[in-house]
Amino acid sequence: MTGFGAGFRWGVATSAYQIEGAVDEDGRGPSIWDTFCAVPGAVAGGDSGAVACDHYHRWREDVALLGELGVDAYRFSIAWPRVQPDGRGRFEPRGLAFYRELCEGLLERGIEPFPTLYHWDLPQGLEDRGGWRSRDTAYRFAEYASVVHEALGDLVTRWTTLNEPYVSSIVGYGEGRHAPGAREGHGALAAAHHLLLAHGLAVRAMRGGNHEFGIVLNQSPSVPVTDSPEDHAAARRHDLLLRRQFTDPLFAGRYPTDYGEVFGDVDFREDDDLAVIGTPLDFLGVNYYYRQHVAAAPFRDPDRTTRTANDIGIDTTRLPDVPRTAMNWPVEPEGLTEALVGLKNRYPDLPPVYVTENGCVYSDRPGFQDDERIAFLDTHLSAARDAVAAGVDLRGYFAWSFLDNFEWAHGYKPRFGLVHVDYQTQTRTPRASFHWYRERIAASRGEP
Ligand code: NOJ
Repeated sequence: MTGFGAGFRWGVATSAYQIEGAVDEDGRGPSIWDTFCAVPGAVAGGDSGAVACDHYHRWREDVALLGELGVDAYRFSIAWPRVQPDGRGRFEPRGLAFYRELCEGLLERGIEPFPTLYHWDLPQGLEDRGGWRSRDTAYRFAEYASVVHEALGDLVTRWTTLNEPYVSSIVGYGEGRHAPGAREGHGALAAAHHLLLAHGLAVRAMRGGNHEFGIVLNQSPSVPVTDSPEDHAAARRHDLLLRRQFTDPLFAGRYPTDYGEVFGDVDFREDDDLAVIGTPLDFLGVNYYYRQHVAAAPFRDPDRTTRTANDIGIDTTRLPDVPRTAMNWPVEPEGLTEALVGLKNRYPDLPPVYVTENGCVYSDRPGFQDDERIAFLDTHLSAARDAVAAGVDLRGYFAWSFLDNFEWAHGYKPRFGLVHVDYQTQTRTPRASFHWYRERIAASRGEP
């Protein structure tokens, strides 16, 4: 028994910039990740997504592998600069045609296309006009979303607007570890708000028919490292930065009460924004990898003159004494149960949930045996089942990732795939976890 019931959707996930390659083909415009990868030192090994898994040319082979795996759904992302090269103005029919063919190929094998409209690859043309700091980018996104929705609406039922807006705003515009590499305070918070606004505007622009709309958020519970009031307060600030600045506007129709106290005054909100951001959703996607262990730390810039958005008196470097993956991420399956149950308890109107990403990196063993990855997935599935037992309306689970791919600032070294990719030859070799997952999915068929 897998314990998830008949309608449960099993899937795997990827994203455009991490697998497609072909960055100069068929009219695709540059994205902020193409630009960022060219900055010396920005990405480990000087890697970039220029070729990646060459999925743009090999998608048929990849869809055949998905068929072998037996998934119900495939979560991928649509590259905005492929569809609208400059992020405004002209749309590129060849980009739209690529995603149409991909969706048709999936549907022919009985696999539901589960696209995300924005997985971090902002057209560079929009970044040149302020990027997510600028309110106009939200309107541009809604326009792009409605054109894609129109073009693929007969093939796609479930639409995800954004993937992990925390990362695109705070990590991209605050910490500078991701594209566009900015280290700002106010700019990063504005980016977070404009991403939420973009999401709400896009849902409103696409609404109609029997389609479902959702957003994907990374949900790492913030755990204080000690019982001291200082560490508790720091964990609460961290939770605001990572989670509540997104979930409160989306699911409670308000900004968090401690927002001003932690971040200071902001000037980017307009009167109707909360109503737009809170447009009802059909599902929430949760990405879970590990818990955050938080200690109080001094503010680096107490008078806020140069303060970056993550400079809020938190230290997340004190890891617990538990096993780690090769990313040095603590393995804590119970954090997934906590994240899912916590959301349900905090937000009475929470829509149904999917785990849209969960996975790990371990070093490869001969013959692609990967017991550790199997154990990781197995224990996290049990944790997801515990959440169901506690009343969470969980509709599906997507392993990250289908293929090894470009792991952003870490380059190609971390391998998250159920399928190994040899980047010299582009040979795909399913790991033991692929076979294990296929059996797990097959075993769930026919369960009540
Ligand atoms: C979340 C992101 O959505 C995905 O792009 C990334 O590769 C995984 N986490 C692993 O870090």
